[in-house]
Amino acid sequence: MTDEIKKGLLGIVVDETTISQVMPEINSLTYRGYAVQDLCEMCSFEEVAYLILNGNLPNGIQLNKFKKEEKENRNITTNMREIIKHIPKKAHPMDVSRTIVSVMGLEDKDTSDNSPKANMRKIMKIFAKTPTAIAAFFRIRKGKKIIKPKKELSFSENFFYMCFGKIPQKEIVKAFDVSLILYAEHSFNVSTFTARTITSSLSDIYSAITGAIASLKGPLHGGANEEVMNMMKKIKTPNKAKSWLIDNLNKKQVVMGFGHRVYKSGDSRVPTMKKYFLKVSKLKKDKNLYKISEIIEKEMIEKKNIHPNLDFPTGPTYHLMGFDTDFFTPIFVIARITGWSAHIIEQYASNKLIRPLSKYKGSDHRKVVLLNQR
Ligand code: CMC
Repeated sequence: MTDEIKKGLLGIVVDETTISQVMPEINSLTYRGYAVQDLCEMCSFEEVAYLILNGNLPNGIQLNKFKKEEKENRNITTNMREIIKHIPKKAHPMDVSRTIVSVMGLEDKDTSDNSPKANMRKIMKIFAKTPTAIAAFFRIRKGKKIIKPKKELSFSENFFYMCFGKIPQKEIVKAFDVSLILYAEHSFNVSTFTARTITSSLSDIYSAITGAIASLKGPLHGGANEEVMNMMKKIKTPNKAKSWLIDNLNKKQVVMGFGHRVYKSGDSRVPTMKKYFLKVSKLKKDKNLYKISEIIEKEMIEKKNIHPNLDFPTGPTYHLMGFDTDFFTPIFVIARITGWSAHIIEQYASNKLIRPLSKYKGSDHRKVVLLNQR
């Protein structure tokens, strides 16, 4: 045993995984061995979700069965709808996301059954119902009626439909699908590690995903996509981007959407998402945010040698698609449920209680003195 402290578990390998491989040295990310860029171009989000959860890409029959199950599980209960209607309208949608998964745990008679079969059943429920509940809050807080899911629609089309009552052009749906694929999995990041830690005590899957959502909310993790958009709103126009950035760096402030614990010379997911950000900008005939982002990226690399991470292009892309800024991280949740779930399955299958040590630096051993003598 060593006394050396590795704050933030920096560089520590805590377990093995077969789900994804982050390879910063060759700027690559694979899910179950497939390059994520190829998955984005050649597969739908549903195919990738199947891959992450089951280990292999589905054939036609397997995919149809998976899609059918997802569609059949989309409806939320009347109880859940009532809860969503009574949530304070000003609540952060990430707090709502965390709460709805927790409520799903309350509603499921199988919550405490951690058998592989029951877990797959529960994963499908969380995967299919969370977008419905998030879209319901998206509408409710604007004073609009909840739109029920439609079985004929794909996962991404259905989310647009439940939020806006209509489906955008297929290129926009594809860009959204790509963002979900890129957000789906990323090895032992903070929220996944949280999910695995909760699972390691043999708690249940609803608890593990509720905890993962709580951890994703933070701006150093998933919350960054929301913060990127807030930054762009402050910058407003491309001609102000450079001076804003220099001012920010002079104040020693962190620039959201930049930097990564693992990738130090660029996030392998960024080029793909950037391509779709540009496509959406062109389709929406609005390149203002794209131009701002180009300037910020160039200056950050030149001045600090810090590269953008995935949250940098996704934030403004979601804005152009019409989503409210504080819903960007809940969209990340919708995608990452797949990765979290696969890790939870992996943790159950080969569990060891996660329990690190700490080095004590508090006061020396001392005697308790009675209250009236203190
Ligand atoms: N803006 C300005 N400086 C930065 C940034 C940034 N975004 N990121 C890192 N640095 C600096 C940091 O100040 C430090 O400088 P110094 O050595 O002079 O103190 C150096 O780079 C190393 O950074 P670190 O914070 O020690 O590195 P880390 O591996 O602990 O942190 C990070 C990684 C993601 C927390 C950090 O880069 C950051 O805060 N980024 C902004 C938030 C963000 O975009 N998060 C999303 C992460 S990726 C996708 C996801 O999980 O959602």
